[in-house]
Amino acid sequence: MAHQGIYKALWLNDNDNLEVIDQRFLPFEKKTRILKTANDACEAIKDMTVRGAGVIGNVAAFGVYLAAREFAGDKSQIKQAAMNIRTSRPTAVNLMWAVDRMLNIVAQSDDVVKNCKAEAIAIADEDVLRTQKIGEIGCDIIENIMAKRKINQFNVLTHCNAGWLAILDSGSALAPIYEAQKRGIDIHVWVDETRPRNQGASLTSWELLDAGIKHTIIPDNTGGHLMQQGMVDMVITGADRVALNGDAANKIGTYLKALAAKDNDVPFYIALPISTFDFACEDGVSDIEIEIRSEDEVHLMRGIDRHGNVQDIRITPEESATINYGFDVTPARLITGLITEAGIIAPNKDAIGELK
Ligand code: MRU
Repeated sequence: MAHQGIYKALWLNDNDNLEVIDQRFLPFEKKTRILKTANDACEAIKDMTVRGAGVIGNVAAFGVYLAAREFAGDKSQIKQAAMNIRTSRPTAVNLMWAVDRMLNIVAQSDDVVKNCKAEAIAIADEDVLRTQKIGEIGCDIIENIMAKRKINQFNVLTHCNAGWLAILDSGSALAPIYEAQKRGIDIHVWVDETRPRNQGASLTSWELLDAGIKHTIIPDNTGGHLMQQGMVDMVITGADRVALNGDAANKIGTYLKALAAKDNDVPFYIALPISTFDFACEDGVSDIEIEIRSEDEVHLMRGIDRHGNVQDIRITPEESATINYGFDVTPARLITGLITEAGIIAPNKDAIGELK
């Protein structure tokens, strides 16, 4: 069944609390979690109940609304709660962007509760439109490559999860793929497993399976070989922060895919809404803060046992050291283009600066 844009990673429920899909249990169990307070929103971002640059921005925005309600419009308490949310993860700029937009409303409003709710909803609604547009523009690129190369089957490689679980409502990297399915294109997706948290193996595969899109999960080290063998027509990933010079931070391992793509003349695109640009960051490789996450994510693997229980099992010697960088930065020179709602943007200061 084609992706209809009916999926939601989060919504305000009948009690006006924020209900989110608890992504920690996918693909094994579809559970939701209800967030009633700003602190609940902050915790859900920190513990990865919700993840993906766009969706953490949305949860942050609704978190500020929850703070406004909780503190009955008291601006200094709301501000304090908003700043806690703003620092809950460091790399994805949509989080800071959304909180700053909400703080602007807090500063300007008399009816803070009502206006915060309206603003959080507006951000979510805008994301839906942005990702639809990204899908259309990205799919035009797919059609152009197919026409130029006279191929009637198309293979995309993607890394991490940049689907509707990561950004409302069509995703960023997956939006052109959903659109391709709508247009009747014969599309197949190579899904990087994306160690250590396996967002590709557990989330992207789950999304694509649900939408009926052909896909194959591959171990993270397989992409280079596939590109060498001519089995990848295009790489599309999302981004967590893109600097003014076009350098793009995305899930750890993205940089290696870009290097392999360059070596094999495979077009390498990043799909993102304009809210993922950090216009204040001049140079991504040197200036974007990279989150360092818990060693447990490397030591332990989540899976389901034969009795249907979701379990974390250790795969390493307990005493071995690990390091867990959550993201890396792909230099602009390796990126073919940035697919945004405003069109395809060249990864350089002049083109990106125009979007400010
Ligand atoms: O650590 P995560 O799962 O939040 O990382 C998510 C990614 O890196 C996505 O690729 C990125 O957010 C782009 S999708 C909006």
